[in-house]
Amino acid sequence: MRIIDKKPELFEKSSCNIWTDPYIQQQMLKEHLNPSSDGASRKQESILKIRDFILGQIKPSGSLLDLGCGPGLYTSLFGDEGYTVTGIDFNKASIEYAKKQRKDIDYICGDYIKDFPQGSYDAVCMIYCDMGTHSDNDRDLLLKNIYNSLNNGGVLIFDVFTERLMNDKQEGQNWEYAPTGGFWNENEYLLLSQTFHYPEAKAFAYQYNLLCTGQNKHFIVWDRYYSENEIIDILKQTGFRSISIHHNVLNGNNFTSDNEMFIVAKK
Ligand SMILES: C[S@@+](CC[C@H](N)C(=O)[O-])C[C@H]1O[C@@H](n2cnc3c(N)ncnc32)[C@H](O)[C@@H]1O
Repeated sequence: MRIIDKKPELFEKSSCNIWTDPYIQQQMLKEHLNPSSDGASRKQESILKIRDFILGQIKPSGSLLDLGCGPGLYTSLFGDEGYTVTGIDFNKASIEYAKKQRKDIDYICGDYIKDFPQGSYDAVCMIYCDMGTHSDNDRDLLLKNIYNSLNNGGVLIFDVFTERLMNDKQEGQNWEYAPTGGFWNENEYLLLSQTFHYPEAKAFAYQYNLLCTGQNKHFIVWDRYYSENEIIDILKQTGFRSISIHHNVLNGNNFTSDNEMFIVAKK
């Protein structure tokens, strides 16, 4: 039985991914579509507040790119407002669902780090702390691509965890036995979970060993958190000229608590 229980190297990538695993991606889609859950997308009431916040930051018309669009909960709202919208996500189940809902939105099933959808956008958004799931190198590559794809005066809007994340998370380990299957697999499984903190890199790693009959899977999920000054410096180094930080766009939720800040960066 191969169980990987050592602390991962900083930003190490695992062989399996929670968003692209054939079974888990379907469970993620169900979570996205539950309007009262903060699981994969925020709950509907929060989504509407974020839509209003974003609309207040961008031009009243134009082209918008949503990175990690999931099943299109935000893209469809921006489509309704008359924007020309592109959404990209590598969860195939989510993109297939999104494509069935709207023919007027351009959906791409792909990896925005490896294969960024180059274009000329008035706005780029990336919602639900997805920026923090990437290594610093991938983040810098992504920010460069976003910057180059924005029209002059265009804006990037995203959210990241603040340093308050440290108050909610602690190192430890846990296990879950699901005799008749559950979120991680359709059949019986044992899930071993570990949380590791990398304070010098401002990151947490969540490592999962999923033990099923006949196969084991290994997942690592990263959460990078930021101070205001750090994220501002990173965006300035990318070239953004005006950056504003927004707290209290939302009240707390049961997934991310009130540990996130929204950032608006103008080219
Ligand atoms: C936390 S969910 C948020 C979804 C959506 N932004 C929302 O708030 O409803 C993160 C999404 O980003 C997608 N994602 C993560 N990394 C990605 C990558 N490298 N390329 C494309 N999609 C990615 C996942 O598949 C997932 O749908």
